[in-house]
Amino acid sequence: MEIIIQPTPEAATDVAAQIVAQLLRQKPRAVLGLPTGSTPLLLYRELVRMKLNWRGVTTFNLDEYTGLSPEHPASYHSFMRENLFRHINIVEKNIHIPDGMTGNVPAFCKEYEKQIRRAGGIDLQILGIGADGHIGFNEPSSSLASRTRMKTLTVRTRQDNAKAFGKLTQAPHHVITMGIGTIMEARHCLLLAFGKKKARAIAGAVEGPITAMNPASALQLHPKVTVCLDEAAASALKMKRYYRWVFDNKPNWQKF
Ligand code: F6R
Repeated sequence: MEIIIQPTPEAATDVAAQIVAQLLRQKPRAVLGLPTGSTPLLLYRELVRMKLNWRGVTTFNLDEYTGLSPEHPASYHSFMRENLFRHINIVEKNIHIPDGMTGNVPAFCKEYEKQIRRAGGIDLQILGIGADGHIGFNEPSSSLASRTRMKTLTVRTRQDNAKAFGKLTQAPHHVITMGIGTIMEARHCLLLAFGKKKARAIAGAVEGPITAMNPASALQLHPKVTVCLDEAAASALKMKRYYRWVFDNKPNWQKF
């Protein structure tokens, strides 16, 4: 794992944006895995500002609430449209987001996995992390080998996400999410986390034992993971000084 600690969310986002931009320049037909939530907002804004060419790019979103139509203002379809897709030249048919309205969840999930495989697999999977260590919506106790399926959100995650719905009672209980096994097949995972609220989850994911109680800790088994953090999210890491030294002293050939 490469741990990159920057003073602010903006600076950590700049590093992440460079990684995405470099991939899109090197591989115009790249396949990206995308998250929603507050964490990637700055990244999407920066990617829009960079005016990259998205014409050949294919995207797969991590998750969607069940029971929400793509037009629902709190759906992840709406989120992606508003924050990224309507500002870039991506081709509509290359956008994939789980269908929260599917009448057959298992069949849909199987097909989503097939679509990822048919696209050649995910080159770069961008991830946020929940305060409980979830990636996608693989909540603590999720199988570390899980595939795309329906999951039940914890009370804490529903509370964290409730503001988009006005009040907690309106927040859905269920989502369709890529599994941890699905995420682990991406060729490169880029995890972003900002703020003190994420510090414990990050410490567990990076330096803790690999455990289903912190699903992001499964990333320790992945051959290529980059973690971009601000100071607050990095604050509980024991080896901060080492990570900083490694990043500041990278040989030129490793720099992007
Ligand atoms: C959303 C997703 C989630 C979020 C996580 C953090 O598509 O996959 O894992 O990344 O819940 O959410 P924020 O960024 O809102 O703190």
